[in-house]
Amino acid sequence: MARLVINPDRKVSRINKEIYGHFSEHLGRCIYEGIYVGENSPIPNENGMRTDVVEALKKIQIPVLRWPGGCFADEYHWMDGIGPKESRKKMINTHWGGVIEDNSFGTHEFFELCRQLGCEAYVNGNLGSGTVQEMSEWVEYMTFDGLSPMSTMRKENGHEEPWNVRYFGVGNENWGCGGNMNPDYYANEYRRYQTYVRDYKHPDPSSGESSILKICSGPNVDDYEWTEDVLKTLYRHCDPRFHGHLDGLSLHYYVHPEGWQIKGSATDFDERVWYKTLAKAYFMDELVTKHSAIMDQYDPEKKVGLIVDEWGTWYTVEPGTNPGFLYQQNTIRDALVAGITLNIFNKHSDRVKMANIAQMINVLQSVILTEGADMILTPTYHVFDLYKVHQDADLVDSSIETEEIDLGDDRFGTGEGGRKITYHLPNLTESASVDADGVLHITVTNASADAAYPVETSIVGHAVKSVTAETVSGEMHEKNTFEEPEVVTVKPFDGVTVTEQGLSFTIPPCAVVRLDVELQ
Ligand code: AHR
Repeated sequence: MARLVINPDRKVSRINKEIYGHFSEHLGRCIYEGIYVGENSPIPNENGMRTDVVEALKKIQIPVLRWPGGCFADEYHWMDGIGPKESRKKMINTHWGGVIEDNSFGTHEFFELCRQLGCEAYVNGNLGSGTVQEMSEWVEYMTFDGLSPMSTMRKENGHEEPWNVRYFGVGNENWGCGGNMNPDYYANEYRRYQTYVRDYKHPDPSSGESSILKICSGPNVDDYEWTEDVLKTLYRHCDPRFHGHLDGLSLHYYVHPEGWQIKGSATDFDERVWYKTLAKAYFMDELVTKHSAIMDQYDPEKKVGLIVDEWGTWYTVEPGTNPGFLYQQNTIRDALVAGITLNIFNKHSDRVKMANIAQMINVLQSVILTEGADMILTPTYHVFDLYKVHQDADLVDSSIETEEIDLGDDRFGTGEGGRKITYHLPNLTESASVDADGVLHITVTNASADAAYPVETSIVGHAVKSVTAETVSGEMHEKNTFEEPEVVTVKPFDGVTVTEQGLSFTIPPCAVVRLDVELQ
């Protein structure tokens, strides 16, 4: 029996809706086919965006979308993607399969997508192979309202009004594909480039917050030296936050069950690999804790967000598909990875201000897969659906008694730069929030492959008026396919009873559960 204790009156932090954000790169079939099919496609679309996909994404209330990469961002030259499509420059997508990128999806198309989705834009600039002028002019093109060369060009290309760029990334993975830089070199480049990322809409007069929030390219996995060295250089002689130079530091972490080289199949795995995968997902908790502790030394008031703008599973590609396209299936295992990770982000929402799962469609841990005119929703999609109630709610104090799952030798691993990692995996994870209507939402995951756990829940200071619950669960390999698209969906979860202390229920193995509780 596990005891879950929740104090709905102890509000800990706001769960930014952006924690439920997504990432879309010019990679494989994410943008092209996955979302953008062009105005003349027989697939139903609005201004080239697939209507089935847009409708599905709206249902999970995607709050923010990052684009155009990823590694692609640091070789993307935005001027190639504006103006008449037939005269747009074609380029080689060197990172992702060496295919021809025809630039038919560019800045105007991205903002049209954000408009249809009703989400914020997170544009990632090119620091690795672009110039300061190029980055500066892109921001002017997108956001300047007055008379200027770039705003005139935007108007000539058919968009009178400036767009809102809520988040702007100054480079991506600049320790790797974004230029193979050392941390102090990158940090100095960041200081220079971001200077010319102008806030043309002016800061919010009440908070002083810029209208365009700048995100610095942060560490890979457990590279704590990168975090430390970059921050040291950014904070030298100034407080970058105070001067509007820095609003977020990114973190990238992917779960490769069998390591970076081998990775492992998305669908064919045994119980040992199930646990190994989930333990690697749970490692996110240590990563966020340790990178946050370094950030605390520079920014004790937690004004700078940790932005986990790439996370998710990364398996071996599906047999017969282009290795550069990173197309993979998605099972109940991915649902657990999503549930565990989102609970971690909720619980660290004092520091984690945004997260973007990689990637939205047809790439890595997608929420949607497409095949021609067909579309399926993955188990990960259904977890985002289950958890959307946490968006912009208040995280409240909660804790759960857990048992450690025995990982055997799989508890040992190696991180960036050869650092030793000890993985561990609790059977259960949880997070709880109270929304604007006062409804308490509790999400619980059970990583056990075969054990169900009774959970006795105490709700401090309140009696329960009513409770409903839903789940994404099943046998660990279950998945949705184009032949059987509804094997894994959100299903009602019965068997929750109201007790004197709060609630009682038994969580089955391989399950993600959400309870919605009306309090007295
Ligand atoms: O998401 C795929 C790739 O993973 C991104 O382009 C890059 O930033 C990361 O290495």
